[in-house]
Amino acid sequence: MIEVTALTKRYGQFTAVKDVSFAVQPGEVLGLVGPNGAGKTSTLRCLAGIIPASAGTVRIAGHDVATDAVAAKRALAFFPDEPRLFDYLTVRQHLNFVARIYGVAGHEGIAQPLLEEFEIADKADQLPGELSRGMKQKLAIICGLLHEPRVMFFDEPLTGLDPLGIRRMKDSIARRAREGATIVLSSHLLHLLEEVCSHVLILKRGEKIADGRIADVAARFSNGDPNVNLEEVFIRATGGSET
Ligand SMILES: Nc1ncnc2c1ncn2[C@@H]1O[C@H](COP(=O)(O)OP(=O)(O)OP(=O)(O)O)[C@@H](O)[C@H]1O
Ligand SMILES: [Mg+2]
Repeated sequence: MIEVTALTKRYGQFTAVKDVSFAVQPGEVLGLVGPNGAGKTSTLRCLAGIIPASAGTVRIAGHDVATDAVAAKRALAFFPDEPRLFDYLTVRQHLNFVARIYGVAGHEGIAQPLLEEFEIADKADQLPGELSRGMKQKLAIICGLLHEPRVMFFDEPLTGLDPLGIRRMKDSIARRAREGATIVLSSHLLHLLEEVCSHVLILKRGEKIADGRIADVAARFSNGDPNVNLEEVFIRATGGSET
């Protein structure tokens, strides 16, 4: 599970994330939403221990990301919005390399089904420069899944995928949650997010506006309208220029 307490992230004088607390349980998928610059990527990077928090604590599967970083990182995977790959390693060499770093025994048996699940098995011997944008994204996702993380952070996982790729990615996230993974994902594609997330957290200018089960958050902003969707909730919750 994920426990975040009073997380604050400052870049110099600028506060990108202010005093945000929430928890995500195994089996839950939390959608992190908010306008451009709201602090979603900053939050996800702090949760994954990629950048240090300025204040507050993050616990991943019981391990403090700041003080017990190796154990926390073994339990988690972070999928960035801009996948970073090695120019001179093929798809298969990426997987061999990641398996070695994480000490994944018998990784071939895990890698091959993943290559097939994400439909890039036929590209196993290609270099990143020979892959399309969406295929690079899929390779980065497979690399992250190889050590079978229990906690996963996805920053905009659906952007750049084709319609079938989006469906597969949603199915893949939902299946891993059913199997007990704890997942947080950020996306602007609210109608897709609504299909895969059990919970939502709305950020505005670094502050938490609302979080909880999607239906409960929607009810808060529905003004009595039972059919309000997440997009409408988002606009009502974050709209306007007031702080
Ligand atoms: N390395 C950095 N140095 C200084 N400011 C930063 C840095 N990274 C992000 N910021 C600022 O922090 C704020 C939050 O940025 P962040 O990338 O977390 O937003 P986001 O919610 O992910 O936005 P988007 O929807 O555009 O991806 C922005 O005002 C941004 O300019
Ligand atoms: Mg972002």
